[in-house]
Amino acid sequence: RRVLVLHGPNLNLLGAREPEVYGRTTLSDIHEMLSARARADGVLLESFQSNHEGELIDRVQAAQSEGVDFILINPAGYTHTSVALRDAFAAVQIPFIEVHLSNIHAREPFRHHSYFSGIAVGVICGLGAQGYALALEYALNRIREN
Ligand code: DQA
Repeated sequence: RRVLVLHGPNLNLLGAREPEVYGRTTLSDIHEMLSARARADGVLLESFQSNHEGELIDRVQAAQSEGVDFILINPAGYTHTSVALRDAFAAVQIPFIEVHLSNIHAREPFRHHSYFSGIAVGVICGLGAQGYALALEYALNRIREN
């Protein structure tokens, strides 16, 4: 059983980037927390961050042949722009939760629309790094039930 966590552009800077908005937790902190939790359930969790749209699309396509059961994705800036990354999710039909650290609805109007929410299982935003942990609990429950 496998879960993939995808992080979009600029999230490699997490911890240092606008900490008042995104918090002090780094991407590797998040990965450690999530992979330990998944391991406890016998689930393999892999994380991948890219600043490049095509690399994220390639990773989503590869997930299908790898038999990934569930994806957690923070598409970051691509949330509001990428029809192509959304299309990749529609193509592979792997269930996913969209996660944002900040509450995108409380921010600038251009962040209010997501290309992903309409095809996601669910969306978590505004809960900081804890949002990933909560999304993972859902994924693990669903994997356990299947
Ligand atoms: C974000 C919100 C996006 O609007 C922004 O472009 C990001 C991060 C979040 O996690 O709050 O890069 O996805």
